Amino acid sequence: MRSRISTFVRFVVLVSVVLAVVPAVNAADRDKLLSEPGVYGTFAAFRLDADWVKQGQTTRITQLLTLKGVVEQHREKVAIDVYLLRGLSDRADLLFRIHATELRDAQEFLLDLQGSLFGKHLTDSTIFSGLTKKASYVPGMPDSLKAELKAPSEPGPQPYVIVIPIRKSADWWGLDQDKRAAMMQEHTEVTVPYLKTVKRKLYHSSGLDDLDFITYFETSKLEDFHSLVLALEKVKEFPYNRRFGHPTLLGTVRSLDEIIEVLAQ
Ligand code: HEM
Repeated sequence: MRSRISTFVRFVVLVSVVLAVVPAVNAADRDKLLSEPGVYGTFAAFRLDADWVKQGQTTRITQLLTLKGVVEQHREKVAIDVYLLRGLSDRADLLFRIHATELRDAQEFLLDLQGSLFGKHLTDSTIFSGLTKKASYVPGMPDSLKAELKAPSEPGPQPYVIVIPIRKSADWWGLDQDKRAAMMQEHTEVTVPYLKTVKRKLYHSSGLDDLDFITYFETSKLEDFHSLVLALEKVKEFPYNRRFGHPTLLGTVRSLDEIIEVLAQ
């Protein structure tokens, strides 16, 4: 018990020291980065290597503080979200979502992260990037459906995150705009019952990766998300997906301090 308390005290002291040496920076305009078109989203998932848990707690805490330092240093240019996948996914332990107006700023963050004492333990990376864009099909949809899309989602925390990369077939891109628009309207109609419980964000990746889209969701009701995907599998647009997932990333939305606390245990 005593050693736990003294480790905790050391942890608090170390946090204060690190925060004191990290220069104060103005945070990037997070709301803008998360809501506007023309912003890059990079998803970087990593596993922690086998040596991580073999280290003593003090060593782990010291290394976790380098993670905190790197995030703080880059907050001026990029918006960084962190997710815990460990325990829910065997593909990765941690996921970073980085929003930036310049993709090279996301790269700088990831280079510093991987070069840090903590980053030396990050292996098996899966990294993909996409771009937020103005909606292509929504403007042509009926007003009633547009109004449904604007309805606010349920207040309160949405603890789960799901990220699904998607690639569509050449047949899809070969269809004329009207046909694609009709199918996307059907796609949107079946999602209406889930608008309150599933929050979504779409990134376009064609040409930036071997993908066309990165789909990102937050929910407090995984059962609703499961039913939503089953409903979407029935619409005419669905068979045009050539790749769905691979990987599908499932985890929980966490603050950086929560991640540090979990990984310090
Ligand atoms: C609440 C749930 C959802 C809503 C409200 C929703 C709504 C929409 C809307 C309105 C669009 C058209 C965007 C535009 O105009 O450019 C769209 C596109 C798309 N959605 Fe969904 N969606 C939902 C769930 C999902 C799920 C679960 C997936 C698959 C995992 C998915 C995959 C996609 C993809 C890949 C596109 C882009 C398609 C293309 O442009 O060819 N959506 N969604």
